[in-house]
Amino acid sequence: MTTPVRVAVTGAAGQIAYSLLFRLAAGDVFGPETPIELSLIEIEPAMAALEGVAMELDDCAFPLLRRMELTTDLARGFDGVNWALLIGSVPRKAGMERRDLLGVNGAIFRPQGRALAEHAASDVRVLVVGNPCNTNALIARENAREIPAERWFSMTRLDQNRARTQLAQRAGVALDEVRTVAIWGNHSATQVPDYWHARIGGKPATEVIDDAAWFDEHFIPTVQQRGAAIIKARGASSAASAANAVIDSVRSVIHPSAADDWEALGVVSAGEYGIPEGLFFGFPVRSDGERVHVVEGLDVPEPLAARIAVTRDELIAERAEIGDLLPSH
Ligand code: NAD
Ligand code: LMR
Repeated sequence: MTTPVRVAVTGAAGQIAYSLLFRLAAGDVFGPETPIELSLIEIEPAMAALEGVAMELDDCAFPLLRRMELTTDLARGFDGVNWALLIGSVPRKAGMERRDLLGVNGAIFRPQGRALAEHAASDVRVLVVGNPCNTNALIARENAREIPAERWFSMTRLDQNRARTQLAQRAGVALDEVRTVAIWGNHSATQVPDYWHARIGGKPATEVIDDAAWFDEHFIPTVQQRGAAIIKARGASSAASAANAVIDSVRSVIHPSAADDWEALGVVSAGEYGIPEGLFFGFPVRSDGERVHVVEGLDVPEPLAARIAVTRDELIAERAEIGDLLPSH
């Protein structure tokens, strides 16, 4: 029997977790042969609701779910975990940018980073979902430098899924015809959904969709503003699609990428494409099933370079805002 995978989920009584935990326990992420131990982390006021979620998990009688730990204690919650899905934090409301959450959410990620470094398994991988996710990931990682850079991720997969759907719908093709869609930079309104490299049915998207204006005037703003559009329509931020993107993100790390495609993740920049080292930046990446690498050597046309510079500068500015959460303070 395969060794169980131990997964910590913060914000486990929240909206995203409610769409995520049942799929995790059903085997959608680690497969039907891998037993799972869930470490469900919350803050005190949400513990009663978390008990209810745990009762529902019990009532599903998932054969793979071997153990649940419900806790507010980070040392217990992160003990021996192989994956940490850092979701717990406040979502934005209509009229806010995700960056406006730095003040309220940033501080959550400093102790979580420390506790991960001290208690997680030696192979731990971390995916930061709570917004603003790139800079929250930076805070956690800077406080946990013992964990190698290649094991940290921030979530840009939801943006990639959104972008692929926009392209498929506009081209009138099935979704799996759409490949190599990159999301560059921040998970924010400055992100760059890349149509320059996207392919539809093996051809450049710009050849298949014969409407040059549509890409800049419709495609990019729709993807950049999709989170806000959902908040406006639903009165709450995306949850089921975010949980789905968490599942896709983890799967994209632990499975080798398809030969003709790439994945979207925020990873720690090693200076690729001129992005300052250490920033969490959305890149096109590929996995060999163990390790994720940035896809290098792509041509970057001038309009794409100009947009990448804007999202890079926003991330540099966010980093400047959180100086007091870095370990030297
Ligand atoms: P929610 O309010 O429904 O749930 C958040 C949960 O986090 C709550 O149960 C709360 O008690 C808990 N929490 C707060 N502080 C915590 C802490 N210090 N430790 C542990 N738990 C804590 O929110 P949600 O809809 O689940 O969204 C969670 C976060 O995910 C938000 O920041 C949201 O903006 C973000 N998000 C990111 C993406 C993405 O693509 N990266 C997509 C959707 C949502
Ligand atoms: C999203 O993209 O849906 C999330 O980041 C939530 C938000 O605030 O937009």
